[in-house]
Amino acid sequence: MPHTDFAAIILAAGKGTRMKSTIHKVLHPVGGKPMVKYLLDTVNCLKPAKTVLVVGADKAQLEHAISGVDFVAQIEQLGTGHAAKIAVDALSDFAGDIIILFGDVPFIPKHIMQTMIAKGQEPCEGLSKDNNRQNGIVVLGFRPKDPAKYGRLITDKNGMLDRIIEYKDASEAERAIPLCNSGMMWIKGSKAKGWLSEIQNNNAAGEYYLTDIVALARRDTYGVVVVEAAENDVLGINSREDLARAEAARQQLWRQAALDAGVTMTDPETVYFSHDTKLGTDITLEPGVFLGPNVSIEDGVTIKAYSHIEGATLSKGAIIGPFARLRPGAEIGKNAKIGNFVEVKKAIISDDAKVNHLSYIGDAEIGAGANIGAGTITCNYDGFMKYPTKIGAGVFIGSNSALVAPVSIGPGAIVGAGSVVTKDVTADALAVARGKQHEVKGYAVKFRATKAEEKAKKTKA
Ligand code: UD1
Ligand code: MG
Repeated sequence: MPHTDFAAIILAAGKGTRMKSTIHKVLHPVGGKPMVKYLLDTVNCLKPAKTVLVVGADKAQLEHAISGVDFVAQIEQLGTGHAAKIAVDALSDFAGDIIILFGDVPFIPKHIMQTMIAKGQEPCEGLSKDNNRQNGIVVLGFRPKDPAKYGRLITDKNGMLDRIIEYKDASEAERAIPLCNSGMMWIKGSKAKGWLSEIQNNNAAGEYYLTDIVALARRDTYGVVVVEAAENDVLGINSREDLARAEAARQQLWRQAALDAGVTMTDPETVYFSHDTKLGTDITLEPGVFLGPNVSIEDGVTIKAYSHIEGATLSKGAIIGPFARLRPGAEIGKNAKIGNFVEVKKAIISDDAKVNHLSYIGDAEIGAGANIGAGTITCNYDGFMKYPTKIGAGVFIGSNSALVAPVSIGPGAIVGAGSVVTKDVTADALAVARGKQHEVKGYAVKFRATKAEEKAKKTKA
């Protein structure tokens, strides 16, 4: 495909009132990533000369979250035509073609964008003799199950687009047209500025409709072509319900991709992925596994039921869960085991180490083959600061031990069960830090006799 110089304009100045949120609509995440970033990632694959994001009142929020674009503020939301015009004006001397996208229609696939750009370049097989045989506009259309309030695409007998009519302005006959406007549009660079400045606001909404540009192009004898997309590819997100639907659709794609890539899931519908989950092969994900952002899982890992994993790296053959929680910075070594009700945060668990039951391991480094007994806690926080715990290779920590950081347990050492370890332990030593056990022979018999007598007296009185 020939490289063409184009600029992408993403409209995102609308208020998004139906989300009922203080977060800008296009920053709401799908699979752990703000929706607009899906759109930007796809656009960036096509290497635009420039990308302009048109924003409204909450410009600061978007500037904080997004980089690599030029921000243009639309103070008053006078309509999509007005938003597109100020963006094109901001491009000043840029003369290439323009692609208009909506920030809340984020999942348009790359191949569709490429098709639209390519269609724009194709010679227009003119309808009339005076047609100048060039395409001026390409519109992305679709046929939704429920056409609702979308703008309708009015084509002529040759299938070329004549004009777009907004729902509010459409007659009953026009509303019956199944082909709708998705919002994405390619505009010929040399004509964009002129056409956009001609758009008027004499319509039912009193807005400057971008869609009116189609009729202007036809007036000037340019061709206007429709490319059709599947409904799922042009899903718009306007409400929390739409957001949930988009999340569900993405999860289905990721589940299918995981199955195709050699991941076993007994109940895929209950497993959740993120946009950036990295998966090897021969992985087993049991029901109810949730994988948050930034998780990487190597070959042969098993994650048992109801485990919550985010920001973690799981090396080959590791076994996690059931009911495990791995938080950001958890690095689990080869064939290591993290068992039920174990929480790991910012900790390296080396190869073959085991933390099998009921533990909290945070800000720690655990050596290869170490065995951390049930209920062991790394006490990493004194209410003000966090401190590290270092446990050497081959260490055995007895059950229900508290390791008060900063503390280091030398390789091969043993810590007795129930210890509260506050000082470093040397390699291969036994450390026991708990009250000494002592015994009073026959005490229990005497105790029972005395108590029984006391009780009997009280009952008589
Ligand atoms: C628009 C289209 C309609 C199409 C539908 C698809 C127009 C006139 N209508 O209608 O044909 O079927 O999208 O979803 O274009 N925006 C601004 N500034 C504004 C107004 C809107 O930046 O002044 C942005 C919004 O943030 C949004 C996009 O433009 O990202 C679309 O605006 P919206 O109000 O949702 O347009 P619709 O009425 O849905
Ligand atoms: Mg809309």
